[in-house]
Amino acid sequence: MPKILTLPGLIDVHTHLREPGATQKEDFESGTKAAIAGGYTAILDMPNNPIPTISEEALKQKIKLATGRIYSDLGFHFGATPANYPVFEKIKDKVFGLKVYMNYTTGDLLMEDMNALEEVFSKWPKGKVIMVHAEGETLKKAVNLAKKYHQRLHVCHISLKKEIEAVKQAKKEGLDISCEVSCHHLFLNSDDVKRLGPFGCMRPPLSSKEDQQALWDNLDYIDMIASDHAPHTRQEKETPGKIVNGVPGLETSLPILLTAVAEGKLTIDRLIQLTNKNPRRIFKIPEQADTEIEVDLNEQYTINHKQLFTKCKWTPFEGMEVQGKVKKVVLRGKTVFDQGRVIGPYGQVIFPEMV
Ligand code: DOR
Ligand code: ZN
Ligand code: ZN
Repeated sequence: MPKILTLPGLIDVHTHLREPGATQKEDFESGTKAAIAGGYTAILDMPNNPIPTISEEALKQKIKLATGRIYSDLGFHFGATPANYPVFEKIKDKVFGLKVYMNYTTGDLLMEDMNALEEVFSKWPKGKVIMVHAEGETLKKAVNLAKKYHQRLHVCHISLKKEIEAVKQAKKEGLDISCEVSCHHLFLNSDDVKRLGPFGCMRPPLSSKEDQQALWDNLDYIDMIASDHAPHTRQEKETPGKIVNGVPGLETSLPILLTAVAEGKLTIDRLIQLTNKNPRRIFKIPEQADTEIEVDLNEQYTINHKQLFTKCKWTPFEGMEVQGKVKKVVLRGKTVFDQGRVIGPYGQVIFPEMV
């Protein structure tokens, strides 16, 4: 018996759509189709492309390329470099956050130099989010910088016990801080890497069972679940001697989370907070009128790459039995997903709400 539930459209603050510069992995069309099929009606794109979003021109180009071609709503983050703070004021109203890469990962945006980091943290407009990729000990550096310059900090993809402990401590001290966790860190661990090989490699890497359990134990301190959808082609993933980090996530996150609801690990209300209410409030994402999704809480199926809209056509969750399926998505009154088909493009480029 189907059990249909209507939910608000999900919001993902952490997606890598790869256009321009790496459209063999994903582009605005394929990535926003994947978003819609996964129940996301608004997503925010990361800056670490081969053509990175680190200048006003690059941002304008992204907006232009996306306009008229996107199926979900789409906004952008800006990438920090040691030299681009002079444009912060010009771009600040067009982007949702500033991403600072404090550890090595995909792309060329690594920033480790303390003087450069001080410059970035001191110059970014106050009250707007600074998002950090800061693993383990590096997170302490980010928290100290945010404290020193009274910045609003968002910690991406926490995966370790010591990271959630650090966030918890900073929250207790009253710091303006939020954090996200990704489904791969909640539902997979380092034991799965043996089975998945390169398809289980991402930054931060899958952590130990103890670290994974610490994320579940501290779910109350986690503000949102982000997909960290980071597609790479199978061929890129399988190139011997080369580790390419990142896994897709837009189409698997909701069914996996609904399965956790069916298993009693999460309530529907908490799921809505983590995937809609908190991301919308923290990143000032504009309301989407007449927008909702329908899921069947009873439908069971096996995750299969053949059904995915992402260009990369693989998933680390292949073969997983899930309960909870996206049946329909409505965006501003228009049906944009029905019976497995994505309809559109009806997405819009979005900008942060001014308050
Ligand atoms: O695994 C990852 N992939 N982690 C990141 O931080 C970046 C991402 C990507 O862009 O491929
Ligand atoms: Zn990252
Ligand atoms: Zn990422």
